[in-house]
Amino acid sequence: MWPGASTQSIACEVGARGLRPGRSPRRLADRLVACDLRIEAAWGSRARPLQYDARMKGHDAALQAAVFDAIAERYDDVFSDKQAQIEALDWLLERLSPGARVLDVGSGTGLPTAKALADAGHEVHGIDISGEMVRIARRNVPAGRFEQVDVLRLTQPDAHYDAAIAFFSLLMLPKDGVRQALGMLRRALRSGGYFLVSMVEGDLDYESLEFMGQMVRLTAFPQAALEALLREQEFEVLGARGVNFTPRAGAEPERQLFYRCRI
Ligand SMILES: C[S@@+](CC[C@H](N)C(=O)[O-])C[C@H]1O[C@@H](n2cnc3c(N)ncnc32)[C@H](O)[C@@H]1O
Repeated sequence: MWPGASTQSIACEVGARGLRPGRSPRRLADRLVACDLRIEAAWGSRARPLQYDARMKGHDAALQAAVFDAIAERYDDVFSDKQAQIEALDWLLERLSPGARVLDVGSGTGLPTAKALADAGHEVHGIDISGEMVRIARRNVPAGRFEQVDVLRLTQPDAHYDAAIAFFSLLMLPKDGVRQALGMLRRALRSGGYFLVSMVEGDLDYESLEFMGQMVRLTAFPQAALEALLREQEFEVLGARGVNFTPRAGAEPERQLFYRCRI
């Protein structure tokens, strides 16, 4: 859990009142902002002010984290077929120099991404908004370094990483947040660094949808718009792949987009 944060108590409040994240009353929104401020106080110098106004766009970081806390232990059972992800990862592994520094954004359980990178001798830094996911990733990949951090609060010197990966994690940000996260990730990469990103295709801006029995806010772009956004944020698109994916149970079939980029 975030030190001193009240993710669970807010999640309980939401559950008890039968509220949907997208319909939070002002009082709950205020509590989320207050929670955010406590997180910032607890994280001290590692915290970065939110990159946009959380109240205006309603980036429910605590609620998004609570969703993934709740499903963390079941996630890999439902999304057990990660073949396209593994192929993208293999493409990256062939290109990394020994001991590369790699950022895994929304590292989840650490499987298969962080584990494959750590097993290949690379220095993996996984960040995830969910404390449960971080706990499981540390268990699965003891050689990795995992932290509970919202990608929009990431603080790293510019040009720090040789590669960054964001498999299905930026889709939990509003569209504006995706744009900002891409800009931050581009700056965190050294010149010539690689970037792998996957999203679900569609056209949603932080809409409340059911996901594995939880209400989560999701964002999706049509393929052309995602590609335009990557170019706008100065990524060179080296390759793209679309995959029709059917999860095992508890989630809807989806079209997944995988991009291989470089700066
Ligand atoms: C759909 S899962 C994908 C996990 C893993 N990347 C994979 O492909 O198996 C999305 C992950 O991103 C995390 N996440 C969502 N929003 C995030 C944010 N703003 N910053 C960091 N992690 C986030 C979630 O907690 C969750 O672990």
